[in-house]
Amino acid sequence: MSSPADRRTFLKATVASGLLGLTKPASTFAAAPAAPAASTDWLEAARAEIPALAGTDYFQTGAFGPSPHRVMERTKALLDLQNQCPAHPENIGQLKDAESACRRLLAETVGAKPSEVAMTANTTGGINTVLWSIDWKAGDEIIIGNQEHPALLLPVYTLQRRFGVVMKMAPVDRPEDTVDAVLQRLTLRTRLVAISHVSRGSGQVLPAVALSRALRERGVPLLLDGAQGPGNVPVDFHALGCDYYSLCGHKWMLGPKGTGALLVREDVLAATAVSWTGSGAQSSMDEEGHFEWQPDARRFEFATRFLAGLGGWHTALQWLGQLGWPRVRARMDHLSAYASEAIRGQKGLELISPADPAQRNGIVVLRMPAGFKATELYDRLRQQDRILVSPVSQPRDLRVCLHFFNTEAEVDRLLARLKVYCG
Ligand SMILES: Cc1ncc(COP(=O)(O)O)c(C=O)c1O
Repeated sequence: MSSPADRRTFLKATVASGLLGLTKPASTFAAAPAAPAASTDWLEAARAEIPALAGTDYFQTGAFGPSPHRVMERTKALLDLQNQCPAHPENIGQLKDAESACRRLLAETVGAKPSEVAMTANTTGGINTVLWSIDWKAGDEIIIGNQEHPALLLPVYTLQRRFGVVMKMAPVDRPEDTVDAVLQRLTLRTRLVAISHVSRGSGQVLPAVALSRALRERGVPLLLDGAQGPGNVPVDFHALGCDYYSLCGHKWMLGPKGTGALLVREDVLAATAVSWTGSGAQSSMDEEGHFEWQPDARRFEFATRFLAGLGGWHTALQWLGQLGWPRVRARMDHLSAYASEAIRGQKGLELISPADPAQRNGIVVLRMPAGFKATELYDRLRQQDRILVSPVSQPRDLRVCLHFFNTEAEVDRLLARLKVYCG
């Protein structure tokens, strides 16, 4: 494994040779700012802000996004302020201001209204809020995708055990067939469809707009598991058309670990029952037990929460916005294309994630040759090469998450090691 200094030299050389530049035709990146040769300085400066990149090829953003220094600094500063006197109204006010700023900027980033955003600690929390909002009866049905994370599977299995809910799985492997696959499984007992927006195991992107429209026409609510969404693919909550979207700050948005949000469409708020609840979810309450919920999605928030982390997430969103989302996206698209091509060109490897530019995103998945186990290669790459990838559900599949800060040189190193290990 090369030293950080070697890597820096390599990165500079790569920048100089134009490899880090946007090598696609200009029209493909119409939204990105013009990129003169020197403009890749932004990338090197941004990489220098992320400590996890020093000495490691980091391809695990889909598990845990590596935060830049400024996110940790903002979080720490808020924790310091809070702990000078946690109960002081001024400190509480500043922490609440940090939360409001995060809510506003997140809403703007994902095309929601601030009033539609409930801050959570993770994607799983938002999924549970929606799943437990339904008054399930034995025989009621829920449709999920066939590539779901335990974050959705376990709550659904729990509904099966607790209430006799019937789970149906729709294949999502071919996006062109997904809407039909879901509709074929709909019955009058279907209470909810819950599917990943972007599959963590294959990088497939759900045809969310078409699915939302089809379900809306049939009066069935749709929850999207957006853990692998915002920061990886563009997300416009209203344009997607789903009822609920659960996401986290700690993956592709590079926020502190333990930050998330549930988006709840304004027109389904009143019909979405509150299950887990406590102090803060109410706007008023008296001694006799009369109370009103918060008028917006804040009714799904309660109790003491990680407000300093939300301040850090706000900083992460600001940073990504300053780097420029179009530039960040263009670079991710370029890297994803670069890696996909390289995988397809390497004997023995198979590209599992979409090659189609319209579908491609930061999740690139490759299948090892028969006889190799992804978990063993994951260990080997991590221990011997300090290359961090993720084994995913299929035993021969390795996930390579590419954010804007990754480089072609890192992709080359990974594939070179795989060539050595898998021959
Ligand atoms: C598709 C999907 N859903 C949910 C989760 C869980 O995310 P969180 O830890 O934010 O609940 C993950 C994490 O990898 C995921 O990939």
